[in-house]
Amino acid sequence: MANTPENVVVTLNSMPEYVDMFRAAFDGEKEPVTFDNMARAIESFEATLITPAPFDAYLNGDETALTDEQKAGLALFMDKGCAACHSGVNVGGHGYYPFGLVEKPGADILPVGDKGRFKVTETVSDEYVFRAAPLRNVTVTAPYFHSGKVWDLKVAVQIMAESQLGEELSDTETNQLVAFLGSLEGAMPPVTLPVLPAETSETPRPAAKVGP
Ligand code: HEC
Repeated sequence: MANTPENVVVTLNSMPEYVDMFRAAFDGEKEPVTFDNMARAIESFEATLITPAPFDAYLNGDETALTDEQKAGLALFMDKGCAACHSGVNVGGHGYYPFGLVEKPGADILPVGDKGRFKVTETVSDEYVFRAAPLRNVTVTAPYFHSGKVWDLKVAVQIMAESQLGEELSDTETNQLVAFLGSLEGAMPPVTLPVLPAETSETPRPAAKVGP
């Protein structure tokens, strides 16, 4: 965030209210205002940002949490092999895979010069490799794919089946998969914005820097 760990600590220490709050939160520590404690505080907040969904209720034993169509979609999701890349608590998000494992999508969806992870690792086997997106709340997070070129979830699912699995889905199968993805849409956590401590004359001003 265009800051340095040292400057973050100076900034927090410049506002007595922050110091009091860190002391209260990290009770018993001699120097509670540290960069790591700041990160812990943010992590603790982020850990509350969960969106319990019907699929969670289903996994917890509530058989009625999914419709029959969603259950059929879940079966397809596992049988066709989607779950090989989209798995874990966020139904994806923890692995890199080639986009176009079986058949490379067209340049309209995967621009030719856009080589994904290759840009970071410069390893040939990482060409067109991307993070398998987490699928929680995917119904409300269009557009899809890193290129953001696909707005219809049905189309995104069909592209996935063709490019990653070499499968052409029927309309019914596509609808069932999309219905299952709908069961990953959960209740958004209510977030109350805090009133932040006011800066003091000791608070470092943002460095004037133009551009990225
Ligand atoms: C070989 C691994 C692999 C398999 C198998 C796979 N996916 Fe994906 N999926 C990916 C990757 C990688 C991306 C990210 C592509 C990108 O960002 O351009 C992705 C992206 C998606 C997206 C877009 C999510 C978003 O927010 O942009 C959806 C939806 C999706 N997959 C659903 C499925 C479904 C349904 C199946 C089964 C028919 C499937 N995937 C099979 C690797 C896979």
